[in-house]
Amino acid sequence: MANLKSKLRANARSFILNNRRTLITAAGSALLSGGAVYLYAAKVEARNYKLERLHVTTEPGLLSKNDPKGKHVALRILHLSDLHLSAPESHKIEFLQRITDADYDLIVFTGDIFENYTGTQYAKDLITRKPRLGAFAVLGNHDYYNYTWFNKTVGRVNRSFRHPRHKRDVTPLIHALSESGITVLRNSSRMFDAEHTCLIGIDYPGITQEELSALTAQAPEGYLILSLLHVPKRLQQLPQAGVHLAFAGHTHGGQIRIPGIGALITDSELPRREASGLVRREDTIIHVSRGLSADPKTNFRLFCPPAATIIDVEHHG
Ligand SMILES: [Fe+2]
Repeated sequence: MANLKSKLRANARSFILNNRRTLITAAGSALLSGGAVYLYAAKVEARNYKLERLHVTTEPGLLSKNDPKGKHVALRILHLSDLHLSAPESHKIEFLQRITDADYDLIVFTGDIFENYTGTQYAKDLITRKPRLGAFAVLGNHDYYNYTWFNKTVGRVNRSFRHPRHKRDVTPLIHALSESGITVLRNSSRMFDAEHTCLIGIDYPGITQEELSALTAQAPEGYLILSLLHVPKRLQQLPQAGVHLAFAGHTHGGQIRIPGIGALITDSELPRREASGLVRREDTIIHVSRGLSADPKTNFRLFCPPAATIIDVEHHG
Protein backbone atom coordinates (compact mmCIF):
# COMPACT_ATOMS: atom_id res chain seq x y z
CA MET A 1 0.00 0.00 0.00
CA ALA A 2 2.80 2.36 0.98
CA ASN A 3 4.56 1.43 -2.26
CA LEU A 4 1.46 2.23 -4.30
CA LYS A 5 1.09 5.64 -2.61
CA SER A 6 4.72 6.62 -3.24
CA LYS A 7 4.41 5.41 -6.85
CA LEU A 8 1.32 7.59 -7.40
CA ARG A 9 3.07 10.56 -5.80
CA ALA A 10 6.13 10.06 -8.04
CA ASN A 11 3.92 9.81 -11.14
CA ALA A 12 2.07 13.01 -10.22
CA ARG A 13 5.38 14.84 -9.63
CA SER A 14 6.81 13.74 -12.96
CA PHE A 15 3.53 14.69 -14.75
CA ILE A 16 3.71 18.20 -13.28
CA LEU A 17 7.42 18.55 -14.12
CA ASN A 18 6.94 17.30 -17.70
CA ASN A 19 3.87 19.48 -18.32
CA ARG A 20 4.67 22.51 -16.20
CA ARG A 21 4.68 24.89 -19.16
CA THR A 22 1.23 23.69 -20.29
CA LEU A 23 -0.13 23.83 -16.73
CA ILE A 24 1.21 27.35 -16.16
CA THR A 25 -0.31 28.49 -19.48
CA ALA A 26 -3.69 26.91 -18.59
CA ALA A 27 -3.74 28.51 -15.11
CA GLY A 28 -2.70 31.87 -16.57
CA SER A 29 -5.41 31.67 -19.26
CA ALA A 30 -8.06 30.80 -16.67
CA LEU A 31 -7.01 33.76 -14.50
CA LEU A 32 -6.90 36.13 -17.46
CA SER A 33 -10.29 35.09 -18.84
CA GLY A 34 -11.82 35.23 -15.32
CA GLY A 35 -10.37 38.71 -14.90
CA ALA A 36 -11.62 39.79 -18.34
CA VAL A 37 -15.16 38.55 -17.57
CA TYR A 38 -15.10 40.34 -14.21
CA LEU A 39 -13.88 43.59 -15.80
CA TYR A 40 -16.57 43.37 -18.49
CA ALA A 41 -19.30 42.60 -15.88
CA ALA A 42 -18.21 45.39 -13.51
CA LYS A 43 -17.05 48.12 -15.89
CA VAL A 44 -19.08 47.59 -19.06
CA GLU A 45 -22.35 45.75 -18.51
CA ALA A 46 -23.00 47.27 -15.05
CA ARG A 47 -23.04 50.68 -16.79
CA ASN A 48 -24.96 49.61 -19.89
CA TYR A 49 -28.21 51.27 -18.77
CA LYS A 50 -31.32 50.40 -20.77
CA LEU A 51 -34.64 52.22 -21.04
CA GLU A 52 -37.35 49.64 -21.70
CA ARG A 53 -41.08 50.01 -22.42
CA LEU A 54 -44.11 47.95 -21.45
CA HIS A 55 -47.86 48.26 -21.92
CA VAL A 56 -50.10 46.90 -19.17
CA THR A 57 -53.88 46.55 -19.15
CA THR A 58 -55.11 45.88 -15.64
CA GLU A 59 -57.71 43.35 -14.57
CA PRO A 60 -60.71 43.43 -14.47
CA GLY A 61 -60.34 45.73 -17.48
CA LEU A 62 -61.71 43.18 -19.90
CA LEU A 63 -64.88 42.70 -17.85
CA SER A 64 -65.70 46.37 -17.34
CA LYS A 65 -64.65 47.65 -20.76
CA ASN A 66 -68.27 47.62 -21.91
CA ASP A 67 -69.52 49.60 -18.93
CA PRO A 68 -70.21 53.11 -20.35
CA LYS A 69 -70.08 54.62 -16.83
CA GLY A 70 -66.67 53.11 -16.12
CA LYS A 71 -63.74 55.50 -15.99
CA HIS A 72 -60.89 54.88 -18.40
CA VAL A 73 -57.50 55.63 -16.80
CA ALA A 74 -54.32 55.84 -18.85
CA LEU A 75 -51.03 56.72 -17.18
CA ARG A 76 -47.40 56.79 -18.27
CA ILE A 77 -45.20 55.74 -15.35
CA LEU A 78 -41.41 55.61 -15.17
CA HIS A 79 -40.28 52.82 -12.84
CA LEU A 80 -36.82 53.24 -11.30
CA SER A 81 -35.32 50.93 -8.70
CA ASP A 82 -32.16 49.98 -6.84
CA LEU A 83 -30.03 53.03 -7.59
CA HIS A 84 -27.71 52.27 -4.65
CA LEU A 85 -26.34 55.82 -4.79
CA SER A 86 -22.90 56.25 -3.28
CA ALA A 87 -20.23 58.81 -4.18
CA PRO A 88 -18.79 59.03 -6.75
CA GLU A 89 -21.57 58.69 -9.35
CA SER A 90 -21.50 59.92 -12.94
CA HIS A 91 -22.81 57.47 -15.58
CA LYS A 92 -25.95 56.62 -13.60
CA ILE A 93 -26.82 60.26 -12.95
CA GLU A 94 -26.26 61.20 -16.61
CA PHE A 95 -28.61 58.38 -17.65
CA LEU A 96 -31.26 59.44 -15.11
CA GLN A 97 -31.11 63.08 -16.18
CA ARG A 98 -31.54 62.08 -19.83
CA ILE A 99 -34.50 59.72 -19.35
CA THR A 100 -36.34 61.97 -16.87
CA ASP A 101 -36.26 64.88 -19.33
CA ALA A 102 -39.62 63.67 -20.70
CA ASP A 103 -43.34 63.79 -19.90
CA TYR A 104 -44.50 61.24 -17.36
CA ASP A 105 -47.61 61.11 -15.21
CA LEU A 106 -45.67 59.50 -12.37
CA ILE A 107 -42.10 58.53 -11.56
CA VAL A 108 -41.79 55.80 -8.94
CA PHE A 109 -38.73 54.51 -7.07
CA THR A 110 -38.92 51.09 -5.45
CA GLY A 111 -36.19 51.23 -2.84
CA ASP A 112 -32.43 50.83 -2.37
CA ILE A 113 -32.15 54.42 -3.54
CA PHE A 114 -29.12 55.16 -1.36
CA GLU A 115 -26.23 52.94 -0.36
CA ASN A 116 -25.06 55.36 2.33
CA TYR A 117 -25.39 58.98 3.45
CA THR A 118 -22.87 60.24 0.85
CA GLY A 119 -25.33 59.17 -1.85
CA THR A 120 -27.85 61.78 -0.70
CA GLN A 121 -25.87 64.52 -2.51
CA TYR A 122 -27.30 63.13 -5.79
CA ALA A 123 -30.97 63.32 -4.75
CA LYS A 124 -31.37 66.70 -6.44
CA ASP A 125 -30.09 65.27 -9.76
CA LEU A 126 -32.45 62.32 -10.06
CA ILE A 127 -35.30 64.00 -11.95
CA THR A 128 -34.88 66.60 -14.69
CA ARG A 129 -38.54 67.35 -15.43
CA LYS A 130 -41.25 67.10 -12.78
CA PRO A 131 -43.84 64.41 -13.60
CA ARG A 132 -47.46 65.59 -13.88
CA LEU A 133 -48.72 63.86 -10.71
CA GLY A 134 -45.39 63.79 -8.90
CA ALA A 135 -42.58 61.44 -7.95
CA PHE A 136 -42.95 58.87 -5.16
CA ALA A 137 -40.67 56.38 -3.46
CA VAL A 138 -40.47 53.57 -0.97
CA LEU A 139 -37.29 52.62 0.88
CA GLY A 140 -35.47 49.30 0.59
CA ASN A 141 -33.18 47.21 2.78
CA HIS A 142 -30.03 49.05 1.62
CA ASP A 143 -31.63 52.35 2.63
CA TYR A 144 -32.14 50.92 6.10
CA TYR A 145 -28.94 48.88 6.57
CA ASN A 146 -25.21 49.43 6.09
CA TYR A 147 -24.15 45.98 4.86
CA THR A 148 -20.66 44.60 5.50
CA TRP A 149 -18.77 41.79 3.71
CA PHE A 150 -19.64 39.61 6.72
CA ASN A 151 -23.37 40.10 6.06
CA LYS A 152 -22.86 39.48 2.35
CA THR A 153 -20.91 36.23 2.74
CA VAL A 154 -21.63 34.52 6.08
CA GLY A 155 -25.15 35.98 6.02
CA ARG A 156 -25.89 34.04 2.82
CA VAL A 157 -25.27 30.79 4.70
CA ASN A 158 -26.57 31.74 8.13
CA ARG A 159 -29.61 34.01 7.71
CA SER A 160 -29.28 35.36 11.27
CA PHE A 161 -26.25 37.36 10.01
CA ARG A 162 -27.99 38.51 6.80
CA HIS A 163 -28.65 42.04 8.11
CA PRO A 164 -26.57 44.26 10.42
CA ARG A 165 -27.87 44.46 13.95
CA HIS A 166 -28.88 48.13 13.77
CA LYS A 167 -31.00 50.03 11.28
CA ARG A 168 -29.73 53.33 9.90
CA ASP A 169 -31.57 56.57 10.70
CA VAL A 170 -33.35 57.18 7.38
CA THR A 171 -34.47 60.72 8.25
CA PRO A 172 -31.65 62.36 6.16
CA LEU A 173 -32.53 60.12 3.19
CA ILE A 174 -36.22 61.01 3.34
CA HIS A 175 -35.34 64.68 3.78
CA ALA A 176 -33.00 64.66 0.74
CA LEU A 177 -35.71 63.07 -1.42
CA SER A 178 -38.41 65.38 -0.17
CA GLU A 179 -36.22 68.45 -0.87
CA SER A 180 -35.89 67.13 -4.43
CA GLY A 181 -39.64 66.76 -4.93
CA ILE A 182 -39.81 63.01 -4.28
CA THR A 183 -42.34 61.92 -1.65
CA VAL A 184 -41.55 58.83 0.41
CA LEU A 185 -44.61 56.72 1.20
CA ARG A 186 -44.25 54.59 4.33
CA ASN A 187 -47.31 52.38 4.60
CA SER A 188 -49.37 55.30 3.41
CA SER A 189 -51.29 56.31 0.30
CA ARG A 190 -51.86 59.22 -2.07
CA MET A 191 -55.13 59.75 -3.93
CA PHE A 192 -55.33 61.31 -7.41
CA ASP A 193 -59.05 61.89 -7.70
CA ALA A 194 -59.04 63.46 -11.17
CA GLU A 195 -57.29 60.34 -12.47
CA HIS A 196 -59.36 57.89 -10.35
CA THR A 197 -56.07 56.51 -9.06
CA CYS A 198 -54.75 55.54 -5.64
CA LEU A 199 -51.03 55.00 -5.00
CA ILE A 200 -49.87 53.02 -1.97
CA GLY A 201 -46.28 52.77 -0.70
CA ILE A 202 -45.33 49.69 1.32
CA ASP A 203 -42.36 50.36 3.59
CA TYR A 204 -39.53 47.83 4.00
CA PRO A 205 -39.73 45.11 5.32
CA GLY A 206 -43.47 44.82 4.67
CA ILE A 207 -46.99 45.39 5.87
CA THR A 208 -49.73 43.26 7.38
CA GLN A 209 -52.69 42.18 5.28
CA GLU A 210 -55.01 44.20 7.52
CA GLU A 211 -52.98 47.41 7.10
CA LEU A 212 -52.73 46.99 3.34
CA SER A 213 -56.43 46.23 2.95
CA ALA A 214 -57.26 49.27 5.11
CA LEU A 215 -55.21 51.48 2.74
CA THR A 216 -56.82 50.11 -0.44
CA ALA A 217 -60.28 50.40 1.15
CA GLN A 218 -59.83 54.20 1.15
CA ALA A 219 -59.97 54.22 -2.66
CA PRO A 220 -63.48 54.73 -4.10
CA GLU A 221 -64.89 52.00 -6.33
CA GLY A 222 -63.50 51.93 -9.85
CA TYR A 223 -60.17 53.53 -8.90
CA LEU A 224 -56.94 52.15 -10.29
CA ILE A 225 -54.94 50.94 -7.28
CA LEU A 226 -51.15 51.06 -7.64
CA SER A 227 -48.64 49.89 -5.08
CA LEU A 228 -44.89 50.31 -4.55
CA LEU A 229 -42.78 47.83 -2.57
CA HIS A 230 -39.11 46.90 -2.44
CA VAL A 231 -38.77 43.17 -1.77
CA PRO A 232 -41.25 41.12 -3.81
CA LYS A 233 -42.46 38.94 -0.96
CA ARG A 234 -45.88 37.92 0.35
CA LEU A 235 -47.23 38.96 -3.06
CA GLN A 236 -50.49 37.14 -2.34
CA GLN A 237 -51.36 40.14 -0.14
CA LEU A 238 -51.72 42.33 -3.22
CA PRO A 239 -54.68 40.63 -4.97
CA GLN A 240 -56.33 40.09 -1.58
CA ALA A 241 -56.20 43.85 -0.99
CA GLY A 242 -57.39 44.64 -4.53
CA VAL A 243 -54.14 46.11 -5.91
CA HIS A 244 -54.23 46.21 -9.72
CA LEU A 245 -50.61 46.98 -10.53
CA ALA A 246 -47.57 46.85 -8.24
CA PHE A 247 -43.94 47.86 -8.73
CA ALA A 248 -41.07 46.05 -6.99
CA GLY A 249 -37.28 45.85 -7.10
CA HIS A 250 -34.60 44.14 -5.00
CA THR A 251 -33.86 41.13 -7.25
CA HIS A 252 -31.65 43.10 -9.70
CA GLY A 253 -32.95 40.53 -12.21
CA GLY A 254 -30.49 38.08 -10.67
CA GLN A 255 -27.49 40.20 -11.84
CA ILE A 256 -25.89 37.12 -13.42
CA ARG A 257 -27.99 35.35 -16.05
CA ILE A 258 -26.82 32.29 -17.93
CA PRO A 259 -28.13 31.99 -21.52
CA GLY A 260 -30.65 29.15 -21.69
CA ILE A 261 -30.89 28.97 -17.88
CA GLY A 262 -31.69 32.51 -16.75
CA ALA A 263 -31.08 34.07 -13.35
CA LEU A 264 -29.16 31.96 -10.85
CA ILE A 265 -30.69 33.61 -7.77
CA THR A 266 -33.45 36.13 -7.00
CA ASP A 267 -32.55 36.86 -3.34
CA SER A 268 -36.28 36.64 -2.62
CA GLU A 269 -39.19 34.20 -2.54
CA LEU A 270 -39.59 34.55 -6.31
CA PRO A 271 -38.67 31.57 -8.48
CA ARG A 272 -35.74 32.19 -10.85
CA ARG A 273 -38.04 32.54 -13.88
CA GLU A 274 -39.68 35.53 -12.15
CA ALA A 275 -36.42 37.33 -11.34
CA SER A 276 -37.57 40.34 -13.41
CA GLY A 277 -40.34 41.55 -15.71
CA LEU A 278 -44.09 41.17 -15.36
CA VAL A 279 -45.24 38.72 -12.72
CA ARG A 280 -48.85 37.84 -11.99
CA ARG A 281 -50.59 36.85 -8.76
CA GLU A 282 -54.31 36.28 -9.47
CA ASP A 283 -55.63 39.65 -10.79
CA THR A 284 -52.58 41.65 -9.72
CA ILE A 285 -49.76 42.41 -12.14
CA ILE A 286 -46.37 43.11 -10.55
CA HIS A 287 -43.48 44.68 -12.44
CA VAL A 288 -40.19 43.47 -10.95
CA SER A 289 -37.42 45.82 -12.06
CA ARG A 290 -33.87 44.71 -12.87
CA GLY A 291 -32.84 47.95 -11.20
CA LEU A 292 -30.05 50.33 -12.13
CA SER A 293 -27.28 49.23 -9.82
CA ALA A 294 -26.25 47.13 -6.79
CA ASP A 295 -24.16 47.40 -3.66
CA PRO A 296 -20.84 48.85 -4.98
CA LYS A 297 -19.08 45.82 -3.42
CA THR A 298 -20.93 43.46 -5.77
CA ASN A 299 -22.01 45.66 -8.67
CA PHE A 300 -21.34 43.38 -11.63
CA ARG A 301 -23.77 42.04 -14.21
CA LEU A 302 -23.73 39.41 -16.91
CA PHE A 303 -26.48 39.07 -19.55
CA CYS A 304 -28.59 41.21 -17.19
CA PRO A 305 -28.02 44.91 -17.97
CA PRO A 306 -29.42 47.53 -15.58
CA ALA A 307 -32.78 48.96 -16.64
CA ALA A 308 -35.38 51.66 -16.13
CA THR A 309 -38.87 50.93 -17.44
CA ILE A 310 -41.62 53.11 -18.90
CA ILE A 311 -44.97 51.46 -18.23
CA ASP A 312 -48.09 52.65 -20.04
CA VAL A 313 -50.96 51.42 -17.91
CA GLU A 314 -54.61 51.28 -18.97
CA HIS A 315 -57.40 50.67 -16.53
CA HIS A 316 -61.16 50.51 -17.11
CA GLY A 317 -62.72 51.09 -13.70
FE1 LIG B 1 -30.83 46.52 -4.42
